[in-house]
Amino acid sequence: MAGMFQGRQIVVTGGTGALGGAVLKRLLDGGATCHVPTSHGSAPDDFAFSGHSGVRLAPDVDLTDASAVDAFYAAVPDLFASIHLAGGYAGSPIGDTSADDFSRMMDMNARTAFLCCRAAVRAMRASATAGRIVNTVARPALEPRSGSGKIAYAASKAAVAAITVALAEEVKGDGILVNAVAPATLDTPANRSAMPKADFSKWVPLDDAAQAVCHLASAENRVASGALVPIFGRG
Ligand SMILES: NC(=O)c1ccc[n+]([C@@H]2O[C@H](COP(=O)([O-])OP(=O)(O)OC[C@H]3O[C@@H](n4cnc5c(N)ncnc54)[C@H](OP(=O)(O)O)[C@@H]3O)[C@@H](O)[C@H]2O)c1
Repeated sequence: MAGMFQGRQIVVTGGTGALGGAVLKRLLDGGATCHVPTSHGSAPDDFAFSGHSGVRLAPDVDLTDASAVDAFYAAVPDLFASIHLAGGYAGSPIGDTSADDFSRMMDMNARTAFLCCRAAVRAMRASATAGRIVNTVARPALEPRSGSGKIAYAASKAAVAAITVALAEEVKGDGILVNAVAPATLDTPANRSAMPKADFSKWVPLDDAAQAVCHLASAENRVASGALVPIFGRG
């Protein structure tokens, strides 16, 4: 792993989150410089990489805001990879899901991914970099029959899946490789606290998910593009 990302400039949206922490650890161990936006004025108290020399934290970047996204990417030099983990889940049966609830899911998952993909492609094209883009979908995007109360979430992640596959085709000629991981439930502190009686051994360990993300974002991935990689663990 050491040196795998030496000298690489990599954007990690959602880098302050649970999966983000595991991804940042691998990238930083490999020598990357990581550009991490947060919608807040500073990193959360539990952010493990505050003050790390390889992390450039960008405060007050709302990734649903096109101008904020473009300004954030404009400040990143020589972008090699753009990893889009920012997103989230809210679930309810359809009768209890308002139009605003639906729009919030689409904004948080699909709009953020679209805006970051667009900014990343523009930056990579401007520097003629055959870069890497990694999006994050989720199992219900591939298998919408799994569980109920997930219509808005599944639709928003299915949109990210469609963006991934369509974009991979669109940027083929630029040499840019675009893929997505599709995790089932991740073994995060938030999930453990929300589902204390679940069998945690069936969940996907964060470092295993991070390994899949980092492979797709690396120069070692030379040919895979347009893939939606299921990382379902033992669930
Ligand atoms: N956890 C699971 O079981 C699971 C399963 C399948 C898929 N996923 C997907 O995997 C990804 C990571 O999940 P996670 O559990 O690590 O999430 P998490 O801990 O809740 O972190 C979410 C991250 O998204 C960022 N974010 C959200 N909206 C944003 C916005 N408008 N502007 C800027 N940043 C924004 C947050 O940044 P700030 O708070 O710093 O702004 C935070 O770093 C998500 O896309 C999630 O949908 C998760």
